[in-house]
Order: sequence, then structure tokens, then C-alpha cells
Amino acid sequence: MTAPVAELIGQYDPSLPLAEASTPPSAWYLDPRIGELERRAVFARHWQCAGRLDQLREPGDYVTCGIAGEPVLVVRGDDGVLRGFFNVCRHHAAAVMTQPQGCAKHLRCPYHGWTYALDGTLKGTPGFGDECPLDRAANGLVPVDIAQWERWVFVRIERTGPTLEEFLGDSAIAGVRALGLDRLHWFARRRYLLDCNWKVFVDNFLDGGYHVPHLHKGLNSVLDFARYTVETGRHHCLQSAPMAKGDDVRFTSVRGGERAAYYWFHPNFMVNWYEGMMDTHLVLPLGPARTEVVFDFWFEDVSEAARERNEASIAVGDIVQDEDAAICGSVQRGLGSRAYDTGRLSARREAGEHLFHRLLHADLSRGPFPRR
Ligand code: FES
Ligand SMILES: [Fe+2]
Repeated sequence: MTAPVAELIGQYDPSLPLAEASTPPSAWYLDPRIGELERRAVFARHWQCAGRLDQLREPGDYVTCGIAGEPVLVVRGDDGVLRGFFNVCRHHAAAVMTQPQGCAKHLRCPYHGWTYALDGTLKGTPGFGDECPLDRAANGLVPVDIAQWERWVFVRIERTGPTLEEFLGDSAIAGVRALGLDRLHWFARRRYLLDCNWKVFVDNFLDGGYHVPHLHKGLNSVLDFARYTVETGRHHCLQSAPMAKGDDVRFTSVRGGERAAYYWFHPNFMVNWYEGMMDTHLVLPLGPARTEVVFDFWFEDVSEAARERNEASIAVGDIVQDEDAAICGSVQRGLGSRAYDTGRLSARREAGEHLFHRLLHADLSRGPFPRR
């Protein structure tokens, strides 16, 4: 018999200290009902990265994406203001903008041609006829909350809760500011499809480097693993390690500097920073055992002369990502085994995972927002 969802949530005890804590029950990683609840109670509740500000420089620049299963559009207006909307036409619900990004004078729906201004107001309804009056003012695109931070724009589907700054907190904001991200330029995007629940990928990221010496021999060779640190805030985790002089030339040639800093922000956004570069991860659930991770690679030097080195840096990222993808698939298969339900956390390493699981528990316990 299938347990009610509330019972599955209740099987996790968020009050246990890290030294006594275990992972959530495997049903959280397998049951489609948990995935549906997460969509409405986690992804609709929290600020979600919708795009990069370099994609939205000029009036008319826009990006589209899916957030918590909803089509979303962010566009810069003629007045220079960034706005976010559900990318859902008020006529019969088609996506108004169909490209992932671009620049447009108006927002014209491809279905019957309804046209919206860049500020979302309905301007034109060609061929609709004037037999029945249509209140254009009441038929603009429906807005979503929007916020900018560092190099990104964030959107929140449910228009309640803390501002993005309040959510991130002073220490995360100051810590990321100190990395000097404004020196970096976006270079490339890669998408990876993984055969695991989205939380398996996040758990793997947050295990305090525990898996690095075992799974990532190349990466481990350039990190001083003995001095790997884990700090948790209210809604984020920072893992950091000094760089070491390694012997794997593929890694030593493209990963340098003093330290590496790996930030995670609840629930699904990560920033991996090395001197002169960073890559970000946006983790998107596609199903109980299917996840897309969008990687954006940024470098300080994106000149033609640096292209080969930057490509080599991405190739090194690919090595690490392939290693993680394989182990995440393995974990997902194990979670489906009758031999496993939960596993203990290392108090020395896995404080980040503990934070993630407790925040998830809080979100799931608060329940979904009702459909509008
Ligand atoms: S659905 Fe957009 S114009 Fe008809
Ligand atoms: Fe890894």
C-alpha cells in the first residue's frame, strides 16, 4: 500500500542534530507525488534563476524559461526596466515568446497575433472583431516577481515571502561580492541530462568534498583536501578549499589561484568559482529520476587568444561532470532498491546536505500554494 504524502514527509526528523541525522527516506527521491509537491511548495516558493543579465542589456531583450512547470518570460522594457511575466497569452494560453532568448519590439503571440507591449500591456488583437467588447487593461500579461543579483535575474512564481536579498542573507551576498564576479564574461553553456532525481545531484554537490578523493582523482589532485571547509548559512552553503600543486596536467593547466569556492543556494543554484573563472549549475527536475543541469561557464579572459584554454577548462569540467553523472545514476538505482531507505550523514563533511534536507522538509511541510 502506498503511504500518504504527509506520512512520507513525516518520516524525516529535522530536529536531529547533524551527528545523528540521516538522509530523507528514499521515497522522497522516487515518488512522483513528492515531485509534484516540490514543484508547488519548493520551486514556486523560492527565487529561481531565470537568466543572465548579459542576455538582457537592451530594451526588447528577453529570455524565456520554465519555472516550477510554468512558462516564464523576462524582458527589458523601453523604459529600461526589467519585468517578468508568465509567458502565457491571455487569449488561449499559447506561449507568447517561443525562443529561449532574443530581442523584440513587441511581444506578439504566434497563435492569433495578440500583441503586448514590452511592459506587458495588451496592445493589439488583430481580427478579434469589435462585436464583443474586450477590456484590454484587464488582459495584459500576468506579472511575476523579479530581482537582480550579481550577474543574474531571478524570478519568483508565488508573489509572497522574503526579498531575494533577505533570502540570500548578508554573509552570502558579501562573500559572493568579494569574488569579484563583475570581472568575468559569459563564455558558453552546456546542458547535461542525468538519470537521477534532482536532489541526488544537489546532495552530491553538498557532501563537503567527501566524494572528491574517491571519485574525482584529477580534481582532487589540484585541491588541498585536508583543508576543505564547509560553512552553512540560513539558505546557502559555502564549501572551500585551497588549491594544491597537482600532477594531472589537464587540471593544473586550467585550475589555478589560491582557493576554490563552491556556493549552493537553496534549492537549486550553484556557483563554482576559481581564480579567473566560474561555472554555475542550475538544477531542473524533469521527472522523479530525470534531471537537467544547465552549466554556464564564465572566464575573465574571453579573447580569441584565450579560447583554446577556455575550451580546455570546459573539457576538464566535463570530466568531473561525467564522473558525477555516473555516480548519481548509480545512487538513483540504489535508492530504488528494497535494501535501502535512508543513510547516515558524516558530521565532519555533510553539514550542507543536512541544511538542504531540513529546508526541504520545511518547504514540504508548509505545503503547496493553491492554484490561482
Ligand atoms: S493564444 Fe495568443 S493570440 Fe490566441
Ligand atoms: Fe562531484
